[in-house]
Amino acid sequence: MKDQTVSQSPVHQPLAHDSAAKHVTGRATYTDDIPEPAGTLHAYLGCATETHAHIRAMDLDEVRAAPGVIGVLTAADIPGHNDISPTGRHDEPVFPTDLVEYHGQPLFAVVAETRDAARRAAMHARIDYEVLPHALDPVAAQDAGYPHVTDPLTLARGDAGAALATAPHRIEGRMAIGGQDHMYLEGQIAFAVPGEDEDVTLHCSTQHPSEAQHMVAHVLGLASNAVTVNVRRMGGGFGGKESQMNLFCAVAALAAKKWNRPVKIRPDRDQDMTATGKRHDFVVDYDLGFDDEGRITGVDGTFAARCGFSSDLSGPVTDRALFHADNAYFYPHVRLQSRPMKTNTVSNTAFRGFGGPQGVIVAERMIEEIAYALGRDTLDIREANFYGDKGRDVTPYHQTVADNIILRVVEELEASAEYRARRRAVLDHNAREGIIRRGIALTPVKFGISFTATHFNQAGALIHVYNDGSIHLNHGGTEMGQGLNTKVAQVVADAFGVDIARIKITQTTTEKVPNTSATAASSGSDLNGMAALDAADQIKARLAAFAAERWQTTPEAVRFVAGGVQVGAEMIPFADLVRAAYMARVQLSAAGFYKTPDIHWDRATGKGRPFYYYAYGAACSEVEIDTLTGEYRILRADVLHDVGRSINPALDRGQVEGAFVQGVGWLTTEELWWDEAGRLRTHAPSTYKIPLASDRPRVFNVALAEWSQNRERTIKRSKAVGEPPFMLGISVFEAISMAVASVADYRECPRLDAPATPERVLMAVERLKEGAA
Ligand code: MTE
Ligand code: MOS
Repeated sequence: MKDQTVSQSPVHQPLAHDSAAKHVTGRATYTDDIPEPAGTLHAYLGCATETHAHIRAMDLDEVRAAPGVIGVLTAADIPGHNDISPTGRHDEPVFPTDLVEYHGQPLFAVVAETRDAARRAAMHARIDYEVLPHALDPVAAQDAGYPHVTDPLTLARGDAGAALATAPHRIEGRMAIGGQDHMYLEGQIAFAVPGEDEDVTLHCSTQHPSEAQHMVAHVLGLASNAVTVNVRRMGGGFGGKESQMNLFCAVAALAAKKWNRPVKIRPDRDQDMTATGKRHDFVVDYDLGFDDEGRITGVDGTFAARCGFSSDLSGPVTDRALFHADNAYFYPHVRLQSRPMKTNTVSNTAFRGFGGPQGVIVAERMIEEIAYALGRDTLDIREANFYGDKGRDVTPYHQTVADNIILRVVEELEASAEYRARRRAVLDHNAREGIIRRGIALTPVKFGISFTATHFNQAGALIHVYNDGSIHLNHGGTEMGQGLNTKVAQVVADAFGVDIARIKITQTTTEKVPNTSATAASSGSDLNGMAALDAADQIKARLAAFAAERWQTTPEAVRFVAGGVQVGAEMIPFADLVRAAYMARVQLSAAGFYKTPDIHWDRATGKGRPFYYYAYGAACSEVEIDTLTGEYRILRADVLHDVGRSINPALDRGQVEGAFVQGVGWLTTEELWWDEAGRLRTHAPSTYKIPLASDRPRVFNVALAEWSQNRERTIKRSKAVGEPPFMLGISVFEAISMAVASVADYRECPRLDAPATPERVLMAVERLKEGAA
């Protein structure tokens, strides 16, 4: 611990991530780095080799007889409920008893002395299947009469049918939008240590420790107070560890209690990719009306999603797709419907943006349709449709957009990126009709912040001040690389007026803060920062009351400033005040709490204020494509993003850069591909291509909108940053689209499906050339 003398508040400073040095030197402890007690066993999943089938018989004798095997776990070994559905729909068993619903579905677990032994043994299962027909994608599922995995949502305002019927121009289209694997560097992992009586402690990599705790208790038939879940950090989560860890925690805990030995489970990458959910892919049908100026008059959209075999988080994910199908644009008359389709694939789950990106890209596709139909610059059409003043400020879910800054963000980026001049240069370049074509696009994003399930918008924190003046900080959020712990520590250091080095960041644990929400929906620092501030304020109030009495002043005259505590005319070092307060028996520990005010949402009527505020941003990307191969690269990308008043500009900029690149990966090279038999064939980095360092934009200018402040009373007037910039990657997709359109003189909207792999780009070029010939 360094001395407390600081001259400047740590908040709003570009401090390094608290674990940055540990990350790059390998000293950061992840779950797999925790020393294993003697006797630790290892579990591995045995998975289905059919896509949809009745299980007639499961013969695991050879598995049990394999070297090193201690035993197997099947559904019969579950003392509580065979159910890990996160939304209480009871449609997701730990292990199925009768029905296989996707290829690669876990059916049992092997527990062995070593991970290698467990993994080898798992292959010896003999399962007798009665094969059933399957449907893999949302369209096939609709054709086969498959049910929705959860209730669909409709958002409506005005009369979309009438507006479309009388629209001066009308276009109908369909867009297919691919899914995405999370590709966290650290895969799923859970390590269970049995305790006395019914107790079990888990160390794992989850964004949602409370849910893992409740789920393990539910599966083991225990009360939640028997289960502790600890998370120091994740090597990336991106939504993939919001609910997906429940299976691994349940298996590890079941085995730990059954054999009374510590048990670790860590799938290999192929199993991680086949047995855990991904971003939902969508097929969207849109019907769009607009006037001669390119202003939208009516929209009707149907969003069918591949949800997989169970509901998991598909309800809220498909809802959020609708919530963002307007992006930054006003639809005078609108009807949007979700179709959360059950399919015979792994159950899809949360992924950065939580369905929002799939909605936003459809809005941007409709803008493209209008621009190509009218022969206009896409940016002009965008600006003509932005949310605006009264009369043009209500969303399809009847929330008024009260904090709209999109035009300022876009206009500033338009100027700094020199969009207009560069677009002219791109047009000139393409007019020479070379093999290499260029495209440029500037796309906006508006993203709603809050969990749409209102009750999740709460958080807790626990702060202890020890009598040497050192501070122990705990809160319900989890660290996955985004820098949440650093931001919350900055807030607490600022509150006490101490150096950030005085604050110990501690692992998230269900023992300290109960009933937490997932660290998700980008709201980690909004919620936990406020809860921690509440805890700090309680301790400060007690210290101030004590100091006022001791130094004969009023509590209002006690101020915690950088460098010490101002008590009337005196400046007392923080540690001295704490020591004196301890001697006077002042309580130096507090639990803080926060709930987001003013939000409400009625799903049945499709009306409310589900979002506390919006985050805005824009990106301008220029690409070039090779019309003979379909290959492309990003020449330049400029980003201007709104994080309100940044708590930490270095971390926020890192989030913007990372999200942009991950968004580009989703829309360009990351392609999930199932064969007819229902097997996911892209289940390792060898077949699934995430962006490499060499794929980054050649020029990458990222700026935060420094003038922005959250008009709501969020923590330090900041805004959430984790997910919104993901959608800035759409600018690359649209720039590729423009380059493709050039081969037919921009007369036709290329209607690229996502991801725009080189193969798809080449086929689109060929199709447009044929049409033009
Ligand atoms: N950044 C890193 N480095 N690793 C991650 O796993 N997850 C993203 C985003 N940024 C993620 C990340 C997702 S999906 C969300 S919802 C937010 O971080 C969650 O953290 P926050 O609420 O603290 O922003
Ligand atoms: Mo993020 S998809 O909300 O974990």
